[in-house]
Amino acid sequence: MAFNDAQRFYPETRLRRNRRDDFSRRLMRETTLTTDDLIYPMFVLEGQGQHEAVPSMPGIERLSIDLLVAECRHLVKLGIPAVALFPVTPASAKTEFAEEAFNSDGLAQRAVRAIKDACPTLGVITDVALDPFTIHGQDGILDANGYVLNDRTVDTLVRQALSHSEAGADVVAPSDMMDGRIGEIRGILENEGHVNTRILAYSAKYASAYYGPFRDAVGSAANLGKADKKTYQMDPANTDEALHEVAMDLAEGADMIMIKPGMPYLDIVRRVKQEFGVPTFVYQVSGEYAMHKAAAQNGWLDDIAVMHESLTCIKRAGANAILTYYAKQFAEELDK
Ligand code: PBG
Repeated sequence: MAFNDAQRFYPETRLRRNRRDDFSRRLMRETTLTTDDLIYPMFVLEGQGQHEAVPSMPGIERLSIDLLVAECRHLVKLGIPAVALFPVTPASAKTEFAEEAFNSDGLAQRAVRAIKDACPTLGVITDVALDPFTIHGQDGILDANGYVLNDRTVDTLVRQALSHSEAGADVVAPSDMMDGRIGEIRGILENEGHVNTRILAYSAKYASAYYGPFRDAVGSAANLGKADKKTYQMDPANTDEALHEVAMDLAEGADMIMIKPGMPYLDIVRRVKQEFGVPTFVYQVSGEYAMHKAAAQNGWLDDIAVMHESLTCIKRAGANAILTYYAKQFAEELDK
């Protein structure tokens, strides 16, 4: 209908009629958000009975495995479908070649076994990347000039992904942005009989400044120092390249793909969803969460309202599921 036609129908057409009452607002709502849409990221610590607040992420704690399992039981009761695990590796376990990444008795692997044991119905997603395990905080193995070597890194990622799957991970999620890693991981999983382990590919992961609080939380910030990840994570200025990445990862055997970060990248989410129509996940990252929480703590934003709005908008853009540090809070609000 052309603008002029719409004008001609006024006052018959008054869009405010449907907005007048709660009942009609509810009936015409195009996007609904439920606990089913959310994945809760969790930081895992060594030790027993250990919990540490993450100062730049109010409400988020690093937990030792015993407390992590207790928290997972609570998440299952709240109806959260899945968690994503991120180990806080002790400095003594970090090396140049990140061997700890595929230690079958590593922190992530033990956490997966403990959670699947206690909460078999809870989906467990593991992070496949080397940054928690390298002394330099990069997601891969470096050459003499400090450049991240692609194929050498992929060999290690494959071993890491297999060790996660052997520990019982339902979904392995490579967040490293190396070329060809999805195909290699799919290959080993098939060869080893892990045909139902899903791969959630971080296909379009940008070299973003919004990851700062996460790097504090896992303790890789100090290792990374002033270095950046621009030789493997994507340039925030690009969109076509994201489509190319998604196409490659799907061709290599990804079951779901991820766009990261969320809020400043919703145009990417929309284009990817329209172009491919595959399960598309979005990571509302640590910096987004920290911004909302900091403003709320100052009384500048309403925490609950921006939680609902930001997540609804990510879903409206095309997300099937959202990794968010708000997942537990959202579910608890609904539970009240
Ligand atoms: C590293 C990784 C990062 C995040 C998830 N996995 C940080 C990075 O790439 O440096 C960021 C998540 C967040 O900011 O919430 N493989």
